Amino acid sequence: MKTSPIIALDFDSSQRVFDFLQPFEAGINVKVGMQLYYKEGPAIISKLKECGFDIFLDLKLHDIPNTVKSAMEVLASLGVDLVNVHAAGGRSMMEAALEGLDKGTPVGMKRPSIIGVTQLTSTDERQVREEQLIHASLQESVLHYTKLTSSAGLDGVVCSVHEAAIISEVCGADFLKVTPGIRLPENGTHDQKRIATPEEARQEGSTHIVVGRAITGASDPRAAYEQINGRWRGVERIG
Ligand code: C5P
Repeated sequence: MKTSPIIALDFDSSQRVFDFLQPFEAGINVKVGMQLYYKEGPAIISKLKECGFDIFLDLKLHDIPNTVKSAMEVLASLGVDLVNVHAAGGRSMMEAALEGLDKGTPVGMKRPSIIGVTQLTSTDERQVREEQLIHASLQESVLHYTKLTSSAGLDGVVCSVHEAAIISEVCGADFLKVTPGIRLPENGTHDQKRIATPEEARQEGSTHIVVGRAITGASDPRAAYEQINGRWRGVERIG
């Protein structure tokens, strides 16, 4: 997947997605999440592929290894570029996911990249301790799951900006660090707890940023995208 920002298409119908994408050039990165995929099914992926978009299919699989393997075989056949699983599913589940992707990738095509979700950005220290009964800090848990993800052969993790630098140190600069929670100073935080600007994400070593409402909720989404892309690439003056 190219390194340009990934726009989260958090819309409830194909119609709304394509109305939104009208001003954008083909070839940008988009993210399809659960709401859109469960509503529109694989047809939304085919349509986006036909228009030339690169696709992160964000379904966060978490099940027994055999089920995840079979599901990944199907997702690879759709021709998406990036998929994900919960690292909490364990090493054998993640290895099975990779096997499924290899098996399902059409001949001559590149296998989709696959990343692990460590701890959701909505999870806090209290939940880690009291609900998951993990006797480590949130950051230690994130790093532990990151190492597990890497050792299972996956290509990277979803992480907040605040974890990107240490993950680079542990797993290398090329290990994918896909970072949501991106905002410009003028945006509100919405429901995100750990936010950062595109410049901070670049400086901390994120390899990709996922941006939803800062673009989809803007009065001129194309202009917002260009501004965020410029800041992410470091070609615009800050402030
Ligand atoms: O609108 P906003 O920029 O907050 O959207 C972020 C997107 O990234 C949403 O689609 C959300 O589901 C997704 N995401 C996230 N945190 C994660 C994983 C995915 O915000 N840990």
